[in-house]
Amino acid sequence: MSVLVVVGAQWGDEAKGKIVDLFAQRARYVVRYAGGSNAGHTVCVNGATYKFHLIPSGILHPNVIAVVGDGVVMDLRAFGIEAAALHEQGVDLSRLRIGRGVHLTMPYHRLLDELEEAQIEGRIGTTKRGIGPTYADKAWRIGVRVADLMERDRLAQRIQRVLQRRNPTIQRVYGAKPLNANELIEEFTHYAEQIRPYVCDVPHLLMQAAERSEPIVMEGAQGTLLDLDYGTYPYVTSSHPIAAGACLGTGIAPNRLTEIWGVAKAYTTRVGEGPFPTELTDEIGDRIRNRGREYGTTTGRARRVGWLDLVALRYAARVNGFTALAVTLLDVLSGFERLKVCVAYRYNDAQTREFIADAPALARCEPVYAELHGWREEIDHCRTLEELPTNARAYLNFIEEHISVPIRLVSVGPSREQTIQCS
Ligand code: IMP
Repeated sequence: MSVLVVVGAQWGDEAKGKIVDLFAQRARYVVRYAGGSNAGHTVCVNGATYKFHLIPSGILHPNVIAVVGDGVVMDLRAFGIEAAALHEQGVDLSRLRIGRGVHLTMPYHRLLDELEEAQIEGRIGTTKRGIGPTYADKAWRIGVRVADLMERDRLAQRIQRVLQRRNPTIQRVYGAKPLNANELIEEFTHYAEQIRPYVCDVPHLLMQAAERSEPIVMEGAQGTLLDLDYGTYPYVTSSHPIAAGACLGTGIAPNRLTEIWGVAKAYTTRVGEGPFPTELTDEIGDRIRNRGREYGTTTGRARRVGWLDLVALRYAARVNGFTALAVTLLDVLSGFERLKVCVAYRYNDAQTREFIADAPALARCEPVYAELHGWREEIDHCRTLEELPTNARAYLNFIEEHISVPIRLVSVGPSREQTIQCS
């Protein structure tokens, strides 16, 4: 394993949490590298369900050090709630580490995200967790980092400085109530003490671990098509979910990455606005949504649902350099007579296999489908490839052939046991 990255291959919600959990059994470190409390991972173990937004799900394994890398943005209010819930479920948080370079999602970021999303024009359909404004302040170099939080004077200075810029926008552009600097300083001084025991220098920690060849799992959030640069801009998140983001968000050098696993659903979903060529707005879509329980862990929103898009998946395989693919939620497709899979787009009267990561152009693409035979049987009890119906195996082979990446895991249900190892 050494350094293994788990990346969402679609628009997020690919059940990466379960795949990370499987690898975490063999890992020493499990590291979140991007995003913030917009993410939601659900892990089911021995009948218990654990919900994660910020804390790496690897914390469930007693030998794992769970690390929040510097590329993550952290909402400390949300963190407090999540930490308390996990503590109540008996999870030991002493193995948590939080990077000094992590940027904080502050109450004004959440407010600005909400105010911006309340405008009809230009809505992205964000999770309203303040992610975009936090990364914007980071790029504008007025962000507040965990390192600032550790010194009260420095924290006070940073908050005063940023509110001088953000309060006029909140008041004059959106007509909302400005935030009080002293109240924020008090609140965050309190959080500082809560997280102080976990704070560390993440790049040093991980560089040393990588030099000692200790097994590290990098846990991606969101998905490739939501990447700020390589996704369907502007309908993207504000960080880098792709494998390269694992380096940016942790300080681990690219030549240290040994395995890059893509995780893709057997179909496609998307939350929020933006083009989605294979979207199903009919009863087939409803059926997949209901069988797959396609409602957001973070926001509860019903997800948009569509057929598997191999044009997009092949793009994800190439952008990330997948060395293996995990296909999840295959069980959801049981019971369909025929299954459609998008193998090309029709764009400007021509046919192409190349993904078009430009939202207005992608919106004009029409999917070209191959039709495959479905299977009637439920497959959630299958534990080997041989136990799967022939047509389910043919479906997996079709995917492999189109994207030229071996499928090495197939998930047929939410629990750890409902997994098929393919090699
Ligand atoms: P933001 O990350 O909250 O700024 O939202 C930007 C876009 O990314 C919106 O379309 C969200 O629905 C989408 N998004 C953010 N996080 C997730 C996720 O964990 N799963 C799926 N979509 C997400």
